[in-house]
Amino acid sequence: EKVILAYSGGLDTTAIIPWLKENYDYEVICVCVDVGQESELEGLEERAKLSGAEKLYIEDVVDEFVEDYILPCVKAGAVYENKYLLGTAMARPVIAKKLVEIAKKEGATAICHGATGKGNDQLRFELTIKALAPHLKIIAPWRIWDLSSREEEIEYCAKHGINLPFSADNSYSRDRNLWHISHEGLELEDPAIAPNYDHLLVLSVPPMKAPDNGETISLSFEKGIPTALNGKSMSPTDIIKELNVIGGKHGIGIVDIVENRVVGMKSRGVYETPGGTILMEAHTQLEELILDRDTLSAKKEIANRFASLVYEGKWFAPLRKAYQAFIDSTQEYVTGEVKLLLYKGNIIKQGTTSLYSLYDESIASFTTGELYNHKDAEGFINLFGLSMMVRALKQGF
Ligand code: ARG
Ligand code: SIN
Repeated sequence: EKVILAYSGGLDTTAIIPWLKENYDYEVICVCVDVGQESELEGLEERAKLSGAEKLYIEDVVDEFVEDYILPCVKAGAVYENKYLLGTAMARPVIAKKLVEIAKKEGATAICHGATGKGNDQLRFELTIKALAPHLKIIAPWRIWDLSSREEEIEYCAKHGINLPFSADNSYSRDRNLWHISHEGLELEDPAIAPNYDHLLVLSVPPMKAPDNGETISLSFEKGIPTALNGKSMSPTDIIKELNVIGGKHGIGIVDIVENRVVGMKSRGVYETPGGTILMEAHTQLEELILDRDTLSAKKEIANRFASLVYEGKWFAPLRKAYQAFIDSTQEYVTGEVKLLLYKGNIIKQGTTSLYSLYDESIASFTTGELYNHKDAEGFINLFGLSMMVRALKQGF
């Protein structure tokens, strides 16, 4: 029998290979899904085989990740607990979907992942597998084995003839993809302590070290999708890559948060989402001009629910599709251009234009106005305030 293992080449997923063979007698098929984590893929196949795997698949899903996962979240304006742009949460379902596809192709009966029993990732992997391939067995070694430190894992590997050079890595627990990098652990585990930004940041500089001269950029959107950066047509993937570099340079999108995990605990983490933060901000500004008041307000509520759903790992729930249909229908006129100044961690508006803007200067202006008659306001307010007036008359103030 075969098992599919979500494999990165790191110590955790390496130790799982001999463990699966020893405890289940499986043939282990490793799958490394590339979502833009920029990890070293060279030599990974040899490494997997040295560790006892039958074979290794390397699947580049960056464009699919952008089209089907990132862009829907951008259009939605999905943000978890006011701050988190869901970088890890939106990547897990596309990874798990690939694991399922390969499991089917290989005729495997089980899928194994290296997420711990304390986090959100286990939910995201497993809910996706349950939704797409309900008959597959799921194995989560961290909930079963009694290895509990890097030293024990290294020793376990050595006992099974795997003597790879594993660093005595004392670093943060990180998760990276095209959209973001997350950091947890070390000093971050005490919310009373400031993050050690010099040690921690990977994609960006801290705002206080960003250049004194800011940088102005322009972003174009069509129907809610980014189409050009600084006037140059580019794919959404390339726009995000480029924005990561520019945003990183100016310290944009660093978030330090204590968030509520699905399993009940609070956890402290730092996220770097330089490009994503710029993209979301630009999109929000366009919507500010283009969406009417009722739609904007309904969309805000849906965005919140959408974000929770994604955070909880329910990407393949019918409700996510339904929310997305609503969101897509709001994006029909979200087309235009946004100019932004990036300056020491801040995003400062430099002007927004759209053919579909609902902003009408002749209505809004204090001095002119043909469509708007000041006198109409009196009758409107009389009716709008009628119930307040009646209550005051009958019950007193
Ligand atoms: N707390 C974040 C989330 O739940 C980040 C998780 C990071 N995962 C990891 N394996 N380091 O989305
Ligand atoms: C893990 O526990 O595997 C990482 C953290 C998380 O899933 O929230």
